[in-house]
Amino acid sequence: LGHAVSKNMLRWPHPRKRLRSEEAPLAGSEKAAFGDVHIFLVERKMGRSRRSFLTQLARSKGFVVEDVLSDAVTHVVSEDGEASSLWAWLKDHSRSDLSRMHVLDISWFTDSMKEKRPVAVETKHLIQDVLPEVSTPTSAAAVSQYACQRRTTTENHNKNLTDAFEVLAENYEFNGMEGQCLAFRRAASVLKSLSWEVRSSERVHELPCLGETMEELILQYGRSFEVNKILSDERYQTLKLFTSVFGVGLKTAEKWYRRGLRTFPDVLEEPSIHLNRMQQSGFLHYGDISRAVSKAEAQALGSIIDEAVHAITPDGTLTLTGGFRRGKDFGHDVDFIVTTPERGQEERLLTSIIQHLKQQGILLFSDYQSSSFDMSKLPSHRFEAMDHFAKCFLILRLEGREVEGGLCRAEGDSRDWRAVRVDLVSPPPDRFAFTLLGWTGSRFERDLRRFARLERRMLLDNHALFDKTKKEFLAATTEKDIFAHLGLEYIEPWQRNA
Ligand code: UTP
Ligand code: MN
Repeated sequence: LGHAVSKNMLRWPHPRKRLRSEEAPLAGSEKAAFGDVHIFLVERKMGRSRRSFLTQLARSKGFVVEDVLSDAVTHVVSEDGEASSLWAWLKDHSRSDLSRMHVLDISWFTDSMKEKRPVAVETKHLIQDVLPEVSTPTSAAAVSQYACQRRTTTENHNKNLTDAFEVLAENYEFNGMEGQCLAFRRAASVLKSLSWEVRSSERVHELPCLGETMEELILQYGRSFEVNKILSDERYQTLKLFTSVFGVGLKTAEKWYRRGLRTFPDVLEEPSIHLNRMQQSGFLHYGDISRAVSKAEAQALGSIIDEAVHAITPDGTLTLTGGFRRGKDFGHDVDFIVTTPERGQEERLLTSIIQHLKQQGILLFSDYQSSSFDMSKLPSHRFEAMDHFAKCFLILRLEGREVEGGLCRAEGDSRDWRAVRVDLVSPPPDRFAFTLLGWTGSRFERDLRRFARLERRMLLDNHALFDKTKKEFLAATTEKDIFAHLGLEYIEPWQRNA
């Protein structure tokens, strides 16, 4: 067989090795009829020998058949029934403008052979791109480098890739390489916003925040050797495990790792380690709080806390924020903002709620942080991960009967309750919109700040928006006001899953 193939190749040289010019496109000696029609036969699925047979056949009938997919081609013919894979291949293998070519099913070719002339192209012959480049709502070139100018729903067409990129980003974070970490997070964020699956290098080139390394990874389909290496790396696995405990940050996890600890029993049996209150609760409720919280569970908690708020003050309000506000079906915790219209009463409201939950017997853990918010210290020029409002990090006991459709339980767990992480934050009433925008997340927020600073000379955080040119704070009662101040189109919460 090998011999036959190589003989075949001698007769029909490999496209790349063949020299040709516009004036002399023919292999045979016959003068080409129908000079305007330049056919290219896609070898994929067709096979090399059938392709050369069909090429010979067509040329003998006076058709022009191109060996290379160049700008000269007008009719691309394929036997690949799967439009998406064919188009992906075409985009990968051509630098030419595909929109100027007919991409046709073999039926057009056989019809033309029968008729001994190129038949008119009809819809039945066309193999259409599932995501035509021109009609894609977000063409690669139109994608903004800022997440706050992209709409990112929970539907991710590039999950394989973004999962891989997030592993790489996390590993850079674990190794203190912040620049690289951010670069991969940004790239993942761009990929999440796309309404198509990235496959060809042509499209990757045009995307913002995607460098050469990333393009290489994409073309390898993300599941690269590098990712698997990280996933099986002991240090990565251990840091991932330790930081999954409530109250354990990267610094503590590294300290434990350096001391040779690798498992939870290693940590818990080490006499010289003193866990703080948060970490103790983290280990105690690990099984429950490391398991995802469902939307129904979040709703049940909303009703419980809402009841507490109204038992304290009739005009207090509770607002769901965080991932659930962005339309996620599951979260690692539930985030709420509590407000009262009476100025200066935010702290009292929060401590009263904690008291109320305690009296109900459902408070398993509470870390209350009083407010350090001071308008006279604003605007802040440096970025702080935490805001200064009164807040609390809680673990609550949620009963199964409170949840529509029941609890998210681990297999074999027969308890009728579970522990859930809940965060409450209580800003002054005039700071509500900024808090809501900040706590709704996701990392979208980070780009909003970056956009404000670099494109508008404004400083944005969870507390306020400051215009450096006018040297004044800009008021806002809703998120829409903030987007309007920044001259941005409003992005709905469920479009902020960046
Ligand atoms: P989360 O960590 O709860 O993220 O923080 P999430 O998007 O809800 O994701 P899951 O579903 O729980 O895993 C919610 C938002 O609150 C902000 C974070 O930056 C994040 O965007 N936040 C948190 C603050 O702005 N300030 C804080 O002090 C704490
Ligand atoms: Mn959350």
